[in-house]
Amino acid sequence: MKLVLLGPPGAGKGTQAVMLVERFGIPQISTGDMLRAAVKDQSPMGLKAKEYMNSGALVPDEVVVGIVRERLQQEDCQAGFILDGFPRTVPQADELKKALSELGKNLDSVISLEVDTDALVERLTGRRTCGACGKGFHLKFDPPGADGRCSVCGGELVHREDDQEATIRNRMDNYHQQTAPLEEYYRTENVLQPVDGMQEISVVQQQIVSVLQAD
Ligand code: AP5
Ligand code: MG
Repeated sequence: MKLVLLGPPGAGKGTQAVMLVERFGIPQISTGDMLRAAVKDQSPMGLKAKEYMNSGALVPDEVVVGIVRERLQQEDCQAGFILDGFPRTVPQADELKKALSELGKNLDSVISLEVDTDALVERLTGRRTCGACGKGFHLKFDPPGADGRCSVCGGELVHREDDQEATIRNRMDNYHQQTAPLEEYYRTENVLQPVDGMQEISVVQQQIVSVLQAD
């Protein structure tokens, strides 16, 4: 299964991707997570990406296209993958099509998670992530352990640097300008499958699974 999760910041792409990994045994490819790891390691790519990310801007296409191209060639992607946060621009979508066609593949489905703007802001301001194992939480909708630490590994929870309100607004604007046109792009390719992302996390998951199984 070759899948893209499309949706604005906070729509639930990462939350749903992790659940789909467990269900289908195919890897999540999150360009956001890969870029954050590079920033943490202070690699040349991380140093380049940091300023864009902290201001809520997109990292240049050639940087992300390069990391996704490389990742798609790895052995664990041969049976399928879940792209989370990529593509995000029309040139990225064109490059993805090219890279997949070179590997003799094409996308099966683009799940578009639809969530109201007010709900997105609440989700992002309340999001916390385990600094040790990466598990995501929400203070209200998916709360961590009673001690305020990760309920899986006991790690300390962090608030993402780009989850400040002013940066969230930039990320939303950039989504509307640069990423939303991909809905039409993939509708034209007959792979776009909208899912109501306003429901509870487990209900959204069920709907994604039923949409995929109906294919
Ligand atoms: P990235 O990390 O991809 O961030 P994003 O797209 O802004 O999306 P988020 O990760 O914030 O949201 P999500 O949809 O994963 O939501 P989540 O599941 O966590 O990118 C970060 C930056 O990296 C970009 O701004 C850019 O600079 C750069 N970048 C990355 N990819 C790039 C690319 N391809 N090109 C260029 N630049 C790129 O959920 C959010 C919260 O809500 C959580 O707390 C969760 O518990 C909660 N929640 C989830 N679902 C529900 C629900 N159904 N009900 C209630 N709460 C819910
Ligand atoms: Mg995410």
